[in-house]
Amino acid sequence: MKDNILRELINNKNRYLSGQELSAKFGISRTAIWKHINKLKEEGYVIESATNKGYVLIESPDILNPVEIKELLKTKFIGRDIIYLDSVDSTNSYGKRMAEGDFWDGTVIIAEEQTSGRGRLGRDWVSPKGKGIWMTIMLKPDIKPNLASQVTLIAAVAVLKAIKSIYNMDIMIKWPNDLVVNGKKVCGILTELGAEIERINYLCVGIGINANSEESDFINKALDTATSIKIATSIKVERKELIARILTVFENYYSLFLEKGSIGFMIEEYKKYLINIGKEVRLITKNEEIQAKAEDITNEGHLLVRLKDGTLKEISSGEVSVRGIYGYV
Ligand code: BTN
Repeated sequence: MKDNILRELINNKNRYLSGQELSAKFGISRTAIWKHINKLKEEGYVIESATNKGYVLIESPDILNPVEIKELLKTKFIGRDIIYLDSVDSTNSYGKRMAEGDFWDGTVIIAEEQTSGRGRLGRDWVSPKGKGIWMTIMLKPDIKPNLASQVTLIAAVAVLKAIKSIYNMDIMIKWPNDLVVNGKKVCGILTELGAEIERINYLCVGIGINANSEESDFINKALDTATSIKIATSIKVERKELIARILTVFENYYSLFLEKGSIGFMIEEYKKYLINIGKEVRLITKNEEIQAKAEDITNEGHLLVRLKDGTLKEISSGEVSVRGIYGYV
């Protein structure tokens, strides 16, 4: 009921809704309405009450309330079910546990804080409370497991375009799916899957965005390689708005991908944002580090590099970390 009242207030911004109107609409007493309004106020919603006029929503708190995100969404299935957690070990781990039972295709898990956030190649992902966007999109695509990594590239382009459309930032992709601003990382994506040899049971597309982190939120040497949208633009990110935009853009590309069976249709766009092309890079695996020149991207999103002996090598994202020769990019 509280969510219904909030939805009504959101949809009537700048207009007073009387207790009587709300009580008739939802079939509960005016006292019950008043109690729900007080609960919303306790959560941080600024609601003005005026005698004989009723209630009007003035301001929402910076919490990722699914009711508000859904009001901003323009999707058919992504984010129609949102699981909101104040704190969790990792939204991807939560998603994997959830996938042992059933879930709606396109369910999104969002947390204010992750206590064991995970990055690619076994790294940690620092996820301080209320500062970022830590979310996982749960999917059930009817595709072969070898196509899963392409969904990560779709997510990278979707996040980039969503950020660009709101903040007009000069943001690029570092292959395969890091988003960088001023040579530093603002977003990372970790896709994990549950699969059999021939089919995917589920995909967890985990997106981590340093939205409103301050310099003091980055521990040790992280500031050398990481930044946030707020640090880069001096603008406070409206996280709900950005989440809704990302999910909307993602659904458009993802639906096209399912229809066409490959990301070939958007590879030129992906390439346009790629920072590595034409650059000398270091390919770092567990056992070795080799230097090469990044030349191109295949239609599957693999990186084509020219080795020192002149041979061309195709690498998939799996176990390789790509760095610039002098630093992160
Ligand atoms: C990377 O660049 O190494 C990937 C980072 C991915 C972080 C996100 S935050 C939401 C989701 N849950 C996790 O534990 N990791 C991903």
